[in-house]
Amino acid sequence: MALQLGDVAPDFSADTTDGSMNFHEYLGDGWGILFSHPADFTPVCTTELGAVAKLGDEFAQRNVKVAAVSVDPVDSHKGWIGDINETQNTTVNYPIIADPDRAVADLYGMIHPNADNTLTVRSVFVIGPDKTIKLMITYPASTGRNFDEILRVVDSLQLTAKHSLATPVNWQPGDDCIISPAVSDEDAATRFPGYTTVKPYLRVTPQPAD
Ligand code: BEZ
Repeated sequence: MALQLGDVAPDFSADTTDGSMNFHEYLGDGWGILFSHPADFTPVCTTELGAVAKLGDEFAQRNVKVAAVSVDPVDSHKGWIGDINETQNTTVNYPIIADPDRAVADLYGMIHPNADNTLTVRSVFVIGPDKTIKLMITYPASTGRNFDEILRVVDSLQLTAKHSLATPVNWQPGDDCIISPAVSDEDAATRFPGYTTVKPYLRVTPQPAD
């Protein structure tokens, strides 16, 4: 059965450009992002991997560990990293998982046979500290992902985890937030003093400072 939100992110051990990895151990008690690439030495992927390297500080600030996966062996990945660093003017600072037998791709349903029988689609999994899947996004091979959007989602997920707040359409950090319907008016008054009731089901409060 396909993975769904709330499922435990499947654990695996694999060879990577940073050595052997056990995925759950690599994530530790923080957040994680696992994202797939159709293949090494492909143009769109090259730009994506460079962009993720440049966002390294942003991921670290959010306690997020990233790992890429592609269905090629580690020697190929290492050669490709040279090209990524050169052409994208950066240094890849996270592991790229080697998956020549497609074990990880199959575990995560990253191969969509009606799109392509051998290459993975562009999957993104955001995984919480409890190891459950908080977000899944799937892009076709021809469309590069927007990693600023993925950071925005991580900010929203972390806000929900910490404060029981949801985020409205097109929310950006610093914008007003929505009080989860699961929070009673009484609790809301204690936790979010001065919140605004637009409708009984639509209660809005400034983003907490911390
Ligand atoms: C790419 O990463 O550039 C790519 C890979 C497979 C199909 C199309 C584009």
